[in-house]
Amino acid sequence: MSSHIVATQPIAGQNAGTSGLRRKTRDFMAPHFLENYVQSIMNAIGGATGKRFVVGGDGRYFNDRAIQVILRMAAANGAAEVISGQNGLLSTPAASHLIRLNKADGGFILSASHNPAGIDADFGLKFNMGNGGPATEAVTDAILAQTQSITAYQITDAPDVDLTQIGQTELGEMQITIVDPVADHAALMAQLFDFDAIRALFDGGFRLTFDAMHAATGPYAKAIFEDTLGAPAGTVVNGTPLPDFGGGHPDPNPIWASELMDIMNAPDAPDFGAASDGDGDRNMIVGRGAYVTPSDSLAVIAANAHLVPGYAKGLSGVARSMPTSTAVDRVARAKDMPCFEVPTGWKFFGSLMDAGKVNLCGEESAGTGSDHVREKDGLWAVLMWLNILAVTGQSVADVMAQHWRTYGRNYYTRHDYEALDKDIANVLMDDLRAGLDTLPGKQFTGLEVMAADDFAYTDPVDSSHTTGQGIRVMFAGGARVVFRLSGTGTQGATLRIYLEQLETDVDRLHMEPEVALAAVIQAADQIAGLRDRTGRGGPEVKT
Ligand code: G1P
Ligand code: ZN
Repeated sequence: MSSHIVATQPIAGQNAGTSGLRRKTRDFMAPHFLENYVQSIMNAIGGATGKRFVVGGDGRYFNDRAIQVILRMAAANGAAEVISGQNGLLSTPAASHLIRLNKADGGFILSASHNPAGIDADFGLKFNMGNGGPATEAVTDAILAQTQSITAYQITDAPDVDLTQIGQTELGEMQITIVDPVADHAALMAQLFDFDAIRALFDGGFRLTFDAMHAATGPYAKAIFEDTLGAPAGTVVNGTPLPDFGGGHPDPNPIWASELMDIMNAPDAPDFGAASDGDGDRNMIVGRGAYVTPSDSLAVIAANAHLVPGYAKGLSGVARSMPTSTAVDRVARAKDMPCFEVPTGWKFFGSLMDAGKVNLCGEESAGTGSDHVREKDGLWAVLMWLNILAVTGQSVADVMAQHWRTYGRNYYTRHDYEALDKDIANVLMDDLRAGLDTLPGKQFTGLEVMAADDFAYTDPVDSSHTTGQGIRVMFAGGARVVFRLSGTGTQGATLRIYLEQLETDVDRLHMEPEVALAAVIQAADQIAGLRDRTGRGGPEVKT
């Protein structure tokens, strides 16, 4: 077996967003595309010689081929060992855990998260660092620079490695360790949660439906909920990972997980419903007829974490992404714990967790997690809720009602304008930015603007500074609008508008969110001229 150097040249469009490089699958399959990006990563981290990596993905189309390329390139670049999930499968949180558990130098995670899978859908690759979390901005900048100057990559000629059998094998000098993708993550969960209490809950007839959406979490959910915690067979639905995710869009929210929403709104609904996304880092929580927004879920977990063994000592601090509602801030204030507001992207949480400043983090986009790994973790969030329900004996609806009575309710919704013309989206954001100083004091649909800015963040640990993270408009009375362009869309530009209104009047805690938010939604339209500029009647997606 021999390795050789392939001459190549930069490929346009290898600038990666907040979650690594996400492109059309056919782009990744084009000659040299994947190879260039993998070599750029290896160059950017100072080479692969003697290093140990984790590799795995969400099982989507091209996952299997891409892993073979990464293995051959790791061997050619002198890596000492690669740890892979059996059949190339690893959920993102499980990959993060494996990196940490094995003290690896980093990991290659193959996923485009919740984006549809298939030859005509999306693929992605991201590099995580030795702490188990997404590459820092310094490293992603270095990777980008490499993609722009690359002239050659190294690859080994070898037949495919058989990844179907757990155990050790070799590729040239490099060792390959194939592990059960589920076992280590499941063992970590058993350390954090009161499995006996959750088992007793299921023994008592409590019913869960977990929708794995034909993506990575199926095997994890079956092993934990059904095999370990005693939930009846059939608790996990759509549990077999498929290369095209069954043609679905595994984004756990009421729109894309409508099958689960229908189950939970039916007369014979189970007690608890949950779902996860393509690579298992996102989660959806829904009670019988009671959908829980991710922002509320974060606040509820913050308020009740002490009921869970892994967090019995209380939390050191919490963090949320800027667009996430301020519900968790109110819990943090009441409990006198630090609360950080960071830019979108899990890497900003990693820095705070590494420094011990926070051990609970969350995003409005259905991501919740703790310092047990350095990624958000869908199954972890579901277990958090199960543990809280088991200890309190309450239903999801009761937990929410009590939470809102105690802390107030932050009504919240997100509106997305998708596949916009990039120029129109950029001009809209530029104009908003240019007009920020004129907003304070103005009234929109009866709401007075108190402050407006373009969110910037200085990391309290390493002092790195990040700018241009979205326009925030704060109104009197706890309402807020945020305008932000997506960093993960693969078509045109996606404008996200995050809308929030605080309500503390106990007689107004159970309204329809779109009704409670009507004035804020209208104010956002007036401030940005959304309908006129986009030429659309409204957003494509409301979550
Ligand atoms: C989206 C979410 C963001 C999340 C990211 C990766 O990014 O909004 O919270 O961190 O996916 O899962 P966006 O497309 O908004 O840039
Ligand atoms: Zn994901």
